[in-house]
Amino acid sequence: MKITVLTASPRPQGNTNQVTNVVVKELEALGHECKTYNLYEKEIHPCTACRKCQKNWETYECMFDDDVMEIYPEILKSELLILSTPIYSWYCTAPMKAMLDRLVYGLNKYYGEEKGPSLWAGTKVALISTCGYKVEKGMDLWEEGMKRYIKHSQLEYLGYLAERHKGYHLEFWDEEKEKRAQEFARKLGEKA
Ligand SMILES: Cc1cc2nc3c(=O)[nH]c(=O)nc-3n(C[C@H](O)[C@H](O)[C@H](O)COP(=O)(O)O)c2cc1C
Repeated sequence: MKITVLTASPRPQGNTNQVTNVVVKELEALGHECKTYNLYEKEIHPCTACRKCQKNWETYECMFDDDVMEIYPEILKSELLILSTPIYSWYCTAPMKAMLDRLVYGLNKYYGEEKGPSLWAGTKVALISTCGYKVEKGMDLWEEGMKRYIKHSQLEYLGYLAERHKGYHLEFWDEEKEKRAQEFARKLGEKA
């Protein structure tokens, strides 16, 4: 399966990327093809609601000629999209939010005079996050928001992997997290 992974942690060697790297490595070992984009290295202009995208029902279109133009074709070719972000203020980080806003308008032709199609209908989506609070209180609003986003966009939700970061003075990584990340990747592989 072809997979696009969007990562959105400002810390390249941070907790979220540690988890994500194990998931990607395992998926690749299972024969899946993963292409990863670090959104902190990309230029993603926030959506300005000009609705240029709604005039073209055939493909993604936008007034901003930035790095979304490189990423969206990969998403359209992928069976699975993995969104990886630390939780910031109960949601994703800012580059991930900018990306989601660009895609929800650019690929869902729902916002013109007539309702058009979702160009990415059927794409599977999985979430990877790390958070400071207990997972159920750190991850809940991000997951709920994404469940609605996924349903609205006619995508298919495959679930999430989230790990708690108990503090910068403590070692984040351990064998249990490694096992859970490998297991999550295997489950994603089976659901494909
Ligand atoms: C600006 C900021 C906001 C945060 N907000 C939350 C939050 O709302 N809920 C939570 O559980 N953790 C929150 N955290 C903690 C991070 O999610 C946690 O430390 C995470 O593991 C960091 O991932 P990273 O190492 O990939 O950067 C926040 C951290 C920062 C820096």
